[in-house]
Amino acid sequence: MSVRTKFSVLIRNWISLFGILMGACALMGGIMMILVDLSLGNLSAYFGVVCYMLIPMAIFGCLGLVILGMILTHLRLKRQGGIPLMIVNFNDRGTLIRLAVFSVLASVFIVGGVVVAYRAYHFTESVEFCGLICHQVMTPEYTSFRQSPHANTSCAECHIGSGAQWFVKAKISGLYQVYSVLMNKYHRPIETPVQSLRPAKDTCLTCHWPTKFFGAVLRTWTHFGSDEKNSPWTIKMLLKIGGGNPAQGQIRGIHWHMEGVNTVEYIATDRKRMVIPWVQATDQAGKVTVYQTEDKKLRLTDSQTASLARRSMDCIDCHNQPAHTYRSPNELLDTAMTSGLLDSSLPSLKAGDAKLLSASYKTSSEALAAIDHELRAKYAGNARLDATVRGVQSLYSGNFFPEMKVRWDEYPNHIGHKITPGCFRCHDGEHVSESGKRISKDCNTCHTILAQGPGTDLPAFTSSGLEFKHPEDIGDDWKTARCDSCHTGSP
Ligand code: HEC
Ligand code: HEC
Ligand code: HEC
Ligand code: HEC
Ligand code: HEC
Ligand code: HEC
Repeated sequence: MSVRTKFSVLIRNWISLFGILMGACALMGGIMMILVDLSLGNLSAYFGVVCYMLIPMAIFGCLGLVILGMILTHLRLKRQGGIPLMIVNFNDRGTLIRLAVFSVLASVFIVGGVVVAYRAYHFTESVEFCGLICHQVMTPEYTSFRQSPHANTSCAECHIGSGAQWFVKAKISGLYQVYSVLMNKYHRPIETPVQSLRPAKDTCLTCHWPTKFFGAVLRTWTHFGSDEKNSPWTIKMLLKIGGGNPAQGQIRGIHWHMEGVNTVEYIATDRKRMVIPWVQATDQAGKVTVYQTEDKKLRLTDSQTASLARRSMDCIDCHNQPAHTYRSPNELLDTAMTSGLLDSSLPSLKAGDAKLLSASYKTSSEALAAIDHELRAKYAGNARLDATVRGVQSLYSGNFFPEMKVRWDEYPNHIGHKITPGCFRCHDGEHVSESGKRISKDCNTCHTILAQGPGTDLPAFTSSGLEFKHPEDIGDDWKTARCDSCHTGSP
């Protein structure tokens, strides 16, 4: 029996024929869609899902049906007395022509497959795929990413990075994520810190160059009080970004903690890495210093220190929200009132809006309706009413996602120390070494206050730095208590 006869015997069954028919339709559809994609580009994420995921899956499914049909026929024929061995006769012209046609078709298929795989690779790495496909689940991350300084980078540059190993890891964990979305098994909000996050040196450091951080940056904060007049209070300070090139000398300032130069290892006793009783610093000269908290309840025993997991501090231990910052009501309103998005002359705007934003709602639409209702009742007849409603609603939509239970107090930001422990997780002045050295809480370690006081614009400048003056009279509490024991970001 020649190739043709054996093949044509096996393929003549309803399952295989059905597979061929459906496969051909899917293939035609797929080719059309790829042509549309290549010529128009930038189509929606759903188009990509159909074109580069569903259609290839359908084609493979159909191929499976064809093979299944052939196997079943083979088994049936075998039961009925067997099929003769396949003999390919290269002297037969017909066989040669069929082989040639088969090879051409196979090459077209392989080249087509490579194009599809390449496009599929790019598509599954795209911001639209990561951010929009699992619409409800990723809305908070996609929205915050779009508002961040990283809006023009891509999810994959931080979450996957280059190299095959992490690509495969990401796809495997992606499959699990698809499963947990389909089965509705995911956490709300998604748990952080992300345990499987790729180390910062492979992601952040592909774009950022810490040896290029130098000196200090000027930062200005204007806060509006919770009184009827929304009284403003402004603070200007030089934030000592620091850094420097280890080859040219000492690294100073905030970017002193730089893995591999001044390495800081720590043990956190909670999942969120908020409670840090043990810290070990190895400086540029190789000197090792261990700091332990003085708090007896938190202090670790030697056996705990030996057995608990240590983490080496990298960018993400401070910049845990480079792309996904969910801001607190106070911060949002202060910025909006400073920029003029909201009118700071409306009586009690700050206090009222902060309450509205931080109230708990079941859905976004419920929240937006409540904001509309409250503000219209409170400021009825005011000329800026519509703009105020729209402004507060846009602050809400960009930072609060009740469906996923995402808001500022679920995701503490480690930069700073006012409404979260942040730097004070270690710099609380209570972490001491055996020789009595402390991780500094001195207010001038990280910044120099240049001006502070009521008003929105402060001209005063000093070169020596001012002692911090707490806007509200709370005695010396700000020196002893942690700021976040009173400040939560909302009323
Ligand atoms: C500049 C780098 C960067 C970019 C770009 C980025 N992320 Fe992230 N993302 C992070 C870091 C760092 C964390 C870890 C936060 C943590 O562990 O506390 C994170 C956390 C997350 C989380 C966990 C939940 C959360 O909100 O913290 C999700 C989900 C996520 N990212 C999805 C995305 C998606 C989707 C995109 C693209 C639309 C994206 N990320 C873009 C750096 C980035
Ligand atoms: C694909 C390149 C890229 C990657 C990867 C990347 N960044 Fe950035 N980063 C940028 C760009 C571009 C900016 C914006 C610069 C500007 O507008 O001045 C930026 C800005 C920043 C800023 C300054 C934000 C501000 O408010 O001024 C910080 C902090 C930062 N990145 C941290 C990180 C961290 C941490 C990571 C790793 C999780 C990271 N970046 C990964 C490109 C990148
Ligand atoms: C000890 C905490 C800490 C670590 C670790 C850290 N940073 Fe920063 N970084 C800061 C703080 C604080 C600022 C100032 C934030 C602000 O402007 O409000 C900053 C600012 C920046 C800026 C903006 C600089 C500018 O001139 O405005 C970039 C970019 C940045 N960091 C990237 C990184 C990268 C990349 C890493 C990892 C190599 C890193 N940082 C590690 C705390 C840290
Ligand atoms: C995991 C613990 C830890 C955290 C969190 C942490 N630091 Fe540090 N920091 C240290 C240690 C340890 C030292 C070094 C103390 C020493 O001199 O041995 C240090 C030193 C510093 C220095 C002095 C560097 C110099 O010039 O000598 C600055 C500035 C600083 N940190 C800023 C920050 C800021 C800002 C944050 C928050 C964004 C922060 N740190 C968060 C552990 C930490
Ligand atoms: C370990 C470093 C570090 C130490 C020590 C430190 N700060 Fe800060 N502080 C920061 C950083 C970083 C920010 C910037 C936060 C941001 O960018 O949002 C900040 C911001 C501030 C702000 C502005 C916040 C706002 O919203 O108005 C004030 C005020 C302030 N610090 C006061 C103090 C006082 C008072 C002390 C001493 C008890 C102190 N800081 C000690 C790192 C430090
Ligand atoms: C004992 C409680 C307490 C502690 C501790 C505390 N504050 Fe305050 N702080 C207040 C109160 C109350 C107000 C007035 C709030 C208002 O008018 O809305 C205030 C207002 C402020 C304001 C201006 C308005 C605003 O809402 O931001 C700043 C800035 C501030 N505090 C910074 C700090 C810093 C930085 C620390 C830590 C070094 C700190 N505070 C510690 C109670 C405290």
